[in-house]
Amino acid sequence: MITINEHYLKLQASYLFSDIAKRVAAFQAENPSQSVIKLGIGDVTRALPGACIEAFHKAVDEMAKDVSFRGYGPEQGYAFLREAIAANDYRARGADISADEIFVSDGAKCDTGNIQELFSGDIKIAIPDPVYPVYLDTNVMAGRTGNFKDGRYEGLIYLDSTKENNFVPALPAGDVDLIYLCFPNNPTGSTISKEALKTWVDYARDHKALILFDAAYEAFIQDDSLPKSIFEIEGAREVAIEFRSYSKTAGFTGTRCAFTVVPKECAAFDAKGNRHFIHPLWNRRHCTKFNGVSYPVQRAAEAIYSEEGKAQTRELISYYMQNAEMVCRGIKELGFDYVGGQNSPYVWIDGKRDSWEFFDILLNKAGVVCTPGAGFGRCGNGYIRISAFNSHENVAAAMQRIRQVLA
Ligand code: MLT
Repeated sequence: MITINEHYLKLQASYLFSDIAKRVAAFQAENPSQSVIKLGIGDVTRALPGACIEAFHKAVDEMAKDVSFRGYGPEQGYAFLREAIAANDYRARGADISADEIFVSDGAKCDTGNIQELFSGDIKIAIPDPVYPVYLDTNVMAGRTGNFKDGRYEGLIYLDSTKENNFVPALPAGDVDLIYLCFPNNPTGSTISKEALKTWVDYARDHKALILFDAAYEAFIQDDSLPKSIFEIEGAREVAIEFRSYSKTAGFTGTRCAFTVVPKECAAFDAKGNRHFIHPLWNRRHCTKFNGVSYPVQRAAEAIYSEEGKAQTRELISYYMQNAEMVCRGIKELGFDYVGGQNSPYVWIDGKRDSWEFFDILLNKAGVVCTPGAGFGRCGNGYIRISAFNSHENVAAAMQRIRQVLA
């Protein structure tokens, strides 16, 4: 008899963004004449930067001739891209990361979801609340939690991120083994200072813990005093893994390219307390279960680091940040408290009511899709997230509609 992985049965009915998509589709089916403006899932709307397109085309042309055709590439990514990442994203900011510590992949979602496979089933895990649901769901699937009760899974340590702590959680009171951090945060848009991040690195070193640092939104940081990488913090190489993505940075949500940084010193322990480096284990997993990102996509990603590509991605980010500013202004005028939107494409709004109820009001009365905060964890209830990923015109129209409904 084939038996099921019963941990899957503990999961909430569907993945947050699929749930929202279903509700939006139902609304559209019932109201075909109502236009809907989507500021829900953080999906980019503007075209790939010209430099990426040019590199993409060129690489496709190479694939069209036997002499320049490429078959399987290195699972970890081509050296040209890994070198560009190490030089531009890390060494240029004083972070000591080498190309062979970088693993190119098809998404930070997959990497943040898959990395937990490397760790034993009985570790203590600390996860912020609210946060990107993938960290939690993948640990539920792996059987590291009990059942869902009162809005939380038993057996996890939740790191509350609330108005009171400025949406930067406090260190866990006791021992934990694996810590998820995400800054700029999805969904709150909050950021962490170098000093505060250092306290997490010190905690991890003192407790032989590991930090999984999701920096998918680092490109939106406008304040240069903030760290873009955990590897800007002294001592992080031994205790942190970092995830990055080109999805939001350069419009790659549909093109797919991301990377994970596993420093060579970074280690975990066996039951006897012996140290094992994570780099060879992640490499082993990557080579076994992943066949690399396509050559043209990696060439397109490499182009982000050209002078032209840098200027174009800066312009792209600044476009979305103008939208974030528009959302913040509109929300402030309506008298709501909010955070985010300054170093992040997300604005986190205290709706002062149940977040699904707020979601329904915006969808049904304004035809605007947001993301209900409760979908990111219990501390998210009462909040909604508005994303800056759309055209200026649509964001302006959405804010005008929201004003009419809520004023
Ligand atoms: C979000 O809206 O939180 C993200 O777009 C989801 C993702 O990156 O998978």
